[in-house]
Amino acid sequence: MPSATLTIDPAFTIAPVNRRTFGTFVEHMGRCVYTGIYEPGHATADEDGFRKDVLELTRELGVSVVRYPGGNFVSGYRWEDGVGPRADRPRRLDLAWHSVETNEFGLDEFSRWCAKAGVEPMMAINLGTRGVQEALDLLEYTNHPGGTALSDLREQHGASPYGIKLWCLGNEMDGPWQIGHKTPTEYGRLAAETARAMRMIAPDLQLVACGSSSSKMPLFGTWERDVLRETYEFVDHISCHAYYGNDDGDTASFLASAVDMDHFIEAVVATADHVGAELKSSKKIGISFDEWNVWYGERSRRTDGPGDQWEVAPRRIEDEYNVTDAVVVGNLLISLLRHSDRVGVACLAQLANVIAPIMTEPGGAAWRQPTFHPFAITSRLAAGQVLRIETDSPTVSTARYGDVPAVDAVATYDEGRVALFAVNRSSEGPVEVTIDVSRAGVTTLDEAVIVHDEDPNATNTAERPDRVTAQPFESARLADGKLTLTLPAISWAAVSLSE
Ligand code: AHR
Repeated sequence: MPSATLTIDPAFTIAPVNRRTFGTFVEHMGRCVYTGIYEPGHATADEDGFRKDVLELTRELGVSVVRYPGGNFVSGYRWEDGVGPRADRPRRLDLAWHSVETNEFGLDEFSRWCAKAGVEPMMAINLGTRGVQEALDLLEYTNHPGGTALSDLREQHGASPYGIKLWCLGNEMDGPWQIGHKTPTEYGRLAAETARAMRMIAPDLQLVACGSSSSKMPLFGTWERDVLRETYEFVDHISCHAYYGNDDGDTASFLASAVDMDHFIEAVVATADHVGAELKSSKKIGISFDEWNVWYGERSRRTDGPGDQWEVAPRRIEDEYNVTDAVVVGNLLISLLRHSDRVGVACLAQLANVIAPIMTEPGGAAWRQPTFHPFAITSRLAAGQVLRIETDSPTVSTARYGDVPAVDAVATYDEGRVALFAVNRSSEGPVEVTIDVSRAGVTTLDEAVIVHDEDPNATNTAERPDRVTAQPFESARLADGKLTLTLPAISWAAVSLSE
């Protein structure tokens, strides 16, 4: 059996675990909001119409931050449509997803939902059809204590200041599909003006400028450079978005998607630092990886309706995930954690029904997709400092990324506790992994779990919601400062150890 060796040393620190790495995303798209997190009349609905089954699963998922309300949706959105008495709220065309938006759920409901879910809101503003004034109005409504038209309006709606800290200055403005799509200089100027004005109300906001909507975009690299040349002193983060799929059946490359995420993050960090050097600035720009996931165009087409009807909350991109997808999601989280020195925020896109870890049926059950498990476990176990791991692994050959290590891993260390997250990206067979943990002084194996199945295409459905779960990893052993794991082909595992 091929073997790999890893060394964990608490001295090899990268950065503290950033709780905002465990963010997700709620967009007014498909059934993420309507019949996802919100369904008045559902058997589990609370007094606000929020599905309590979904709220519970959101807590179990260990979500820290939720980005809202889009996505592409935000670039045509009027935030004021979604506040105040429901009877007065207009129905609007949503051009991004060719749907009808009822505005039954809006900013006030989202803020209440965040409080109940115990998550921090991350608000995106419309820089597609709107600009500086509307962003300022929204900020006055959400954050100003009172005594002005919009803060008093919020009080009339029964709400105290929301105190939202984290703001996205638009969404994917480099994409020709985006309403109000712009050149990098046009967008950079608008983002800088908006950020500067928003800081006049609240200097301590944390602001995210739009980076490329994928590293495959024609302007990737120059977009980030040109946008940051305009915005560097006014923003804290630049965004990255990445979706990985296996539509072409190249599973070896798909399993190595985290290699691409590593390169993506490092390329954007290098570009941001280059602009910082040009500007002679000591400030460092962070990465807000505010959309990432597995997304299959092919599977989406199977669940999407005709798309030419203007419907309310139609089924859109309801991908059904399998074990292989869960292993890739676990590995993408390893990549995000490994870059904790620069990744300040990350959002799994999305939370419910739309390429989501949580699925629901209208009037019916809610269940966990296989991808739910690595996310929930990583969020629960990662604590303290992220550690760089020295890895010596056999390689897998991939068409897209060349030879890549079969085993990829990251660890965290918190006051005598080690958490290790590892994947075997090979479809060929198991790898015997020996981890030297002697320098961490740990002697007790508290928990070991694995996501793996003889059938890597196994999925969960409403009828069989727990066909794929995280199982006890029986073969994990700790003795004489060495942890040994036999990682089967296409598997993700987590181990927690203590002194
Ligand atoms: O998450 C789905 C969509 O993907 C978002 O609306 C958009 O920002 C991205 O292209």
